[in-house]
Amino acid sequence: MNWNTFFRKNLEPILAYQPGLREEQIRRIAEVDTIHKLSSNESPLPPFSSALAAMQDKLVGLNEYPDGSSHELTQLLARHFDVPGEQIVLGNGSNELIDLIAETCLMPGDNVVYGWPSFIVYRSAAQIAGAEYREVPLGNDGAFDLEALLAQVDEHTKIVFVCTPNNPTGGVVTHEAFKQFIDALPGSVLVVLDAAYEEFIDDEQALVSTTFFDGKRPLVVLKTFSKMYALAGIRCGYGLAPVPVVEMINKVREPFNINTVAQAGAQASLEDDAEVAQRRRLNASGKARLSLCFEALGLEQYRSQANFIWVTVPDPAATFDALLKMGIIVRPFPGAHGLRVGVGDEAAVSATIAAFEQLFGGV
Ligand SMILES: Cc1ncc(COP(=O)(O)O)c(C=O)c1O
Repeated sequence: MNWNTFFRKNLEPILAYQPGLREEQIRRIAEVDTIHKLSSNESPLPPFSSALAAMQDKLVGLNEYPDGSSHELTQLLARHFDVPGEQIVLGNGSNELIDLIAETCLMPGDNVVYGWPSFIVYRSAAQIAGAEYREVPLGNDGAFDLEALLAQVDEHTKIVFVCTPNNPTGGVVTHEAFKQFIDALPGSVLVVLDAAYEEFIDDEQALVSTTFFDGKRPLVVLKTFSKMYALAGIRCGYGLAPVPVVEMINKVREPFNINTVAQAGAQASLEDDAEVAQRRRLNASGKARLSLCFEALGLEQYRSQANFIWVTVPDPAATFDALLKMGIIVRPFPGAHGLRVGVGDEAAVSATIAAFEQLFGGV
């Protein structure tokens, strides 16, 4: 049986997402009892207590389908960002929104432009649609180099993804650079500004994603409850998008893509500014400790505005294995010269520092 005859040819080169090691696999390798998972840019803290209570309340009603329009959450987001509800779109994680935008916009013959290394889903979304993808090296600061991106745009370019802070480097695009970029781009290109880590930023020069959103120009802003709001498990992301984009996504999305628990958890979290500020401080202080440690050990790093740091190490694969034995799980990127290290809670940061000192401290 030749199974290949069933499938679309353009799917052949796509690599399936590689899930991290399961808990029991890690326990077999690690030589310590405490494991710190710092590989998926998750929050080390639980969801906000208001969200836990709101989600718990919904459990008994799970015999019913969710509200397919996510009406209350949509209205809350609309008020929060001061945009009409028709310009809000929700996804099963912002990952789904990236896929849906690609599905609704791209045809073979189109191309997509974005910086690299960055979020792997930009590539897979283009590949699934049969579109060409153009990966442009990052600037020296680990941020997207918007001038270099612009140079890759041509009459076949449909989408430019801009990830800021960028995963895996944490570099940010500045307000000024983005303004020049968006003014120079042809109106036929949809800009998808992926701000999944925006809530962690404390650099005042950094672009605020919603500043340029006016519901008219072809710009979509994507954000998520997975990172700062510690709700990665419920899968809820959202976008601010011009009405035609929202309408087109609503045509192709699964009717109940945001489950009942997700709607409740997201709603209860969004307006807790005090909790967000507190968690931003905690992340910043852990990040500063890690950064100082890498600096003292002479390891190069990018200045990160997110909840992780990209650090250059001489032998990433060997370092990854050695850290795993010490109970520290980080994220390797095949072929790259570094590792992405998540900022954990205080204990995780201390353990990470101790592990790096042991590996690179020369004692
Ligand atoms: C840059 C970026 N965008 C989007 C996502 C997707 O997040 P989610 O689907 O959990 O909202 C991630 C997840 O790691 C990410 O790193």
